[in-house]
Amino acid sequence: MKFVIMPDYDQMSRAAADAIVEQLTDKPDSVLGLATGSTPIGMYASLVSDVEAGKVSFADVSTFNLDEYLGLEPTHDQSYRYFMNDNLFDHVDIDKARTHVPSGIGDAMEEICEDYEAKIALAGGIDLQVLGIGNNGHIGFNEPREDFPVMTHTIDLTESTIEANSRLFDSIDEVPRQAVTMGIGTIMGARRIIVVANGKGKAGIVAQAFTGPVVPEVPASVLQLHPNVTVFLDAEAASELDM
Ligand code: PGA
Repeated sequence: MKFVIMPDYDQMSRAAADAIVEQLTDKPDSVLGLATGSTPIGMYASLVSDVEAGKVSFADVSTFNLDEYLGLEPTHDQSYRYFMNDNLFDHVDIDKARTHVPSGIGDAMEEICEDYEAKIALAGGIDLQVLGIGNNGHIGFNEPREDFPVMTHTIDLTESTIEANSRLFDSIDEVPRQAVTMGIGTIMGARRIIVVANGKGKAGIVAQAFTGPVVPEVPASVLQLHPNVTVFLDAEAASELDM
């Protein structure tokens, strides 16, 4: 596990975007695994600038997002499909038909999950997966539990996640209680993983996940077992790391 520690959020975002530019320069038809949340917004903005400057192209890229709320239409402004269109896809030269966000709509969730795994496999697997980390150590919506769920699945969100995400909704009652997420196995199957985290609030969980024991109660700790992970942090998020 490699750490890149930058002085502030903007420089952390730029460094993480550079890792993606490098990936797309090496392999223009890369399959990217993408994340939502506040943390990667600066990274996506840097990538949009890079496309505008002609430094990189998404024309041949395919993407698979980590997760989606259950019950939110893709047009809902808090759905993760909406987030991705708004922060990246609408502003770069990507073919939207090659962008995938698991659907949280409908009754056939088991089929949707199996189909998502099949589509990732058919695309050749994920070359580079982007991850944020939740305050409780979740990656995607893999919440702390007693085992590591392997495949894409539906889950009940924990109270701490519902509360953390309520800042984006009009009231906490509007936050969906369930979501669909890639499994830990899906994520660990990516050939390369980059994690982004910033701010003091993440310092404790960053230290616990990346220097503590590997346990499913801290889902991100599993990344210590992956052979190619780079963690991009700002100085605040790195402040409790003892290296
Ligand atoms: P955040 O979310 O970037 O909004 O802090 C991270 C996560 O929950 O994965």
